[in-house]
Amino acid sequence: MANPVVLALAAIGAAVVLQFTHAALNFLTFHFLKPTHALQAYRGAPNAPTYALITGSSGGIGLGIAHELTRQGFGVILLGHLPDDIAAAARSLPALNPAAPPPRTIILNAETASPDAIADAVSSIADLDVSILVNNVGSNPVAEPNFRPLATYAAADVDAVINLNARFMARLTARMLPLLSRRRPSGPSDTKTTPNRALIINVASLGMVGLPWLTMYGATKAFDFALSAGLARELAAHPATAHVDCLAVVPGDVRSQGNSAENGIAVPANAPVWDAYGREIVLKAEGAVARGWLDMTPHWRHDLERALLARLPLSVATKGMTDMMRVKKDGLEAFYAKRR
Ligand SMILES: NC(=O)c1ccc[n+]([C@@H]2O[C@H](COP(=O)([O-])OP(=O)(O)OC[C@H]3O[C@@H](n4cnc5c(N)ncnc54)[C@H](OP(=O)(O)O)[C@@H]3O)[C@@H](O)[C@H]2O)c1
Repeated sequence: MANPVVLALAAIGAAVVLQFTHAALNFLTFHFLKPTHALQAYRGAPNAPTYALITGSSGGIGLGIAHELTRQGFGVILLGHLPDDIAAAARSLPALNPAAPPPRTIILNAETASPDAIADAVSSIADLDVSILVNNVGSNPVAEPNFRPLATYAAADVDAVINLNARFMARLTARMLPLLSRRRPSGPSDTKTTPNRALIINVASLGMVGLPWLTMYGATKAFDFALSAGLARELAAHPATAHVDCLAVVPGDVRSQGNSAENGIAVPANAPVWDAYGREIVLKAEGAVARGWLDMTPHWRHDLERALLARLPLSVATKGMTDMMRVKKDGLEAFYAKRR
């Protein structure tokens, strides 16, 4: 008879191998099997236009998401604060898919918008079948240089980051929920693949783990992440909202309008570019929801970095993050010094 200790060790070994194989297969299918039609569950009846509201979509990742949603046949509602930039972004869309519903726009400053202005913006799109809200707008809107110690932040800097990255998203989502909730699945079941579902995507950041010299930014991204997870569970718990999915996106470095060498920020050479990254979000969101996830890291390299970060000893992770952020901070200071 086999030794029971050997049998127990073999069983543990087999469980570890199975777990690793499952994780590896999940990683490969999630990142490399692309759907032909993304976000099927969030479309309306054939020929009925379905819209997505994307905040901060005149440039960067938000515009990338708008591009791919347009290619996929959704109408998009672009929200931004600079009328000319938003108009230019809206003009770029029809060429991507002439069959997509015409884009709409909302001009709103996410940092300063009052509750009434947000309510008015939501009322202005109540005539549309809006199935998707993407809370994308966000940055580190503090006085330059914007990578620096918290002790140097004025009260206005602290408030600006909270207002843009956290307060606006919470207020807008609260007002949008009745609009998103009125879409009821037409089928008999309320499964994740039933059409006429609604989706909220909240863009957080890997910086939510807490980055030196970007402490307020990271803290507000942790807020976005927690709001998203709590809301996902809250919506699922009630029959009137169980058809509204909610997913956080956790990006690493993405080359974008704001995160670029033109702005003095050292972005890794292999960072994905805003347009391709927006596309990844659109193509992978439904797969993440179907797997029961509350968040996703859509770019495979970021996903590996995130998994590694979670497994490294804290001292090693802290040293790596601090070294990386010091390079960015010093580079940004040199950039501003040259410009003066
Ligand atoms: N890029 C990255 O490496 C990275 C990494 C992790 C997380 N993220 C997150 O991803 C999201 C998008 O980032 P991004 O890099 O694409 O940003 P971005 O290139 O700076 O673009 C931001 C967009 O938001 C708009 N915007 C800025 N301030 C606004 C305001 N007060 N009101 C309304 N709209 C405003 C900008 O419009 P204007 O150009 O007209 O000002 C632009 O369309 C953010 O939440 C960010 O925190 C980015």
